[in-house]
Amino acid sequence: MFSMFLFVSLCYANNHFKDMAKINCIGILTSGGDAPGMNAAIRAITRAGIAAGLKVKAIYRGYEGLINNEIQEFTTENVSNIIQRGGTILKTARSKEFLTPEGRKVAFDNMKAQGIDALVVIGGNGSLAGARIFAEEFDIPCIGLPGTIDNDLNGTDFTIGYDTTLNTIMQCVDKIRDTATSHERIFFIEVMGRDAGFLAQNSAIASGAEAAIIPEDTSNADQLEQFISRGVRKSKSSSMVIVSESPKCGAMYYADRVKKEYPEFDVRVSILGHLQRGGSPSAYDRILASRLGVGAITALQEGQRNVMIGIKNDEIVYVPFCNAIKSDKPVKKELINVLGILSI
Ligand code: F6P
Repeated sequence: MFSMFLFVSLCYANNHFKDMAKINCIGILTSGGDAPGMNAAIRAITRAGIAAGLKVKAIYRGYEGLINNEIQEFTTENVSNIIQRGGTILKTARSKEFLTPEGRKVAFDNMKAQGIDALVVIGGNGSLAGARIFAEEFDIPCIGLPGTIDNDLNGTDFTIGYDTTLNTIMQCVDKIRDTATSHERIFFIEVMGRDAGFLAQNSAIASGAEAAIIPEDTSNADQLEQFISRGVRKSKSSSMVIVSESPKCGAMYYADRVKKEYPEFDVRVSILGHLQRGGSPSAYDRILASRLGVGAITALQEGQRNVMIGIKNDEIVYVPFCNAIKSDKPVKKELINVLGILSI
């Protein structure tokens, strides 16, 4: 009980500093896997920052660029004509050096030498975990924006890039369905998501697939058996199954099992891969990124630190890093139910 109280108090104390030193200059970086809408976020943070009287410095290649001093001051022109572009103009990286205390010390020294008082990090779970450690070690204000196609950050309904990727997957599945129907085949389509099934579950609903196989399904039931028993019927000569990527139980695993256990079916596999991360961001992702970017500057002005800016029930919320990076965001049971009912 006491330790719980201490944890909550520490979390709060660490997130809110009314009497902080004045922030004159912020640094922005993108880190981890790129996501459509990151550019819209960079644009929003830069412009809102300048509008608030701040100097804005862009850091290239994520934390790696902070260590290697790849830093450039941005004006509003630097972010012109980027809202519609996929990827990130700042480049991105997964920095091994930043995982070490020595690497983070070099990053901090560079940040101070550049006059950067606060850091805004756009990225996923690992990137925000990095921001949390960095902020704690050097007592600097860090703000996070959820930038990942996986939608796996806690405390926010959506992450930047998720909606675009969902639409990309849906369009791919629509196309695969044409050939699946013509040949009367079962397709196992593997989608990204790392350890999360949001992309698989919702793309399955959106594309009218027969089943989604996701890591969040904790029932001991064999998901393939479930699909075969209800998904493949006489009235359906073709089927689409969306499978979350997994080192051991990806689309290939299930296709091989069907080939062995049900040789009467004609089976194919499509692994969508990195095309899912590319492309022009959807209107939803551009608006989300713009709102969160402006929210980041407002949060700094309010004295917030070590929080991720999220969206909950269409309202901007501040989520302490320690909560945002917990890897237990649930896929709603209702969504699993919807797919089950509609795929009969
Ligand atoms: O986190 C985003 C993501 O696209 C995951 O869905 C996927 O598992 C991973 O990144 C792929 O990383 P990389 O581009 O390094 O292969």
